[in-house]
Amino acid sequence: MIKRKNIIKIAIDSPAAAGAGTLAKNISKHYNLVYLDTGKIYRLIAFLKLQYPKKFNIKFIKKKIKYLKIEDLKKKTLLSDEIGTEASIIAKNKNIRKVIHAFQINLAYNPPKRYNGSCLDGRDITYNIVPDADFKFFITANVNTRAKRRFKELKVLKRSVTFTEVLKSIKNRDKSDYKRKISPLKKTKDSILINTTKLSKTACFLKIKKIIDRKIKVNGNL
Ligand code: C5P
Repeated sequence: MIKRKNIIKIAIDSPAAAGAGTLAKNISKHYNLVYLDTGKIYRLIAFLKLQYPKKFNIKFIKKKIKYLKIEDLKKKTLLSDEIGTEASIIAKNKNIRKVIHAFQINLAYNPPKRYNGSCLDGRDITYNIVPDADFKFFITANVNTRAKRRFKELKVLKRSVTFTEVLKSIKNRDKSDYKRKISPLKKTKDSILINTTKLSKTACFLKIKKIIDRKIKVNGNL
């Protein structure tokens, strides 16, 4: 595998709807890093499973991942709670994870030349995908706050869903993501904990920026 030298690598893990996506996007823009929301890959595969139940097998998934472009992950259809739940089910499959693994690692260590590095967020990024990241964060918030945020997002997308349903689905996903045997969600010892419950998006961004800038200042160019 080709590994670009002197790049910044940021790894983020977080439970559903903790605000990691927005933060990671803003951080990536600020430091000119390629951003990958790895959950969207699991969502895309879940979408394919629901769309093509008969064709759905590991060969089919491999082919889709081979030609996958980051733009494919921006589809609004991937954002529903139904797809999120299905994604957390297929995410327990070792063979599916293996296929996705290579795509993520390649982008993390060999981002396109126009970028200064990479920023990936997901569930197993800090210890499985980019274990030697320059910065590792575990971003979380209490479950009610997360459900409120997700509910608001889904309302903007005009999805007919109740708050109770969203809360239930996030609780189920937490259970499934934290408790599964393969690549469970966890905070590693070397990850910095950011609790976004009482913080605005700007406050979270500035907190992370301060941590990154301090290290860049001490170490010079990363
Ligand atoms: O982040 P998002 O909520 O879109 O992720 C959907 C699901 O994909 C998660 O609930 C999780 O089960 C799975 N996932 C994973 N590993 C990742 C990213 C997401 O297992 N790195």
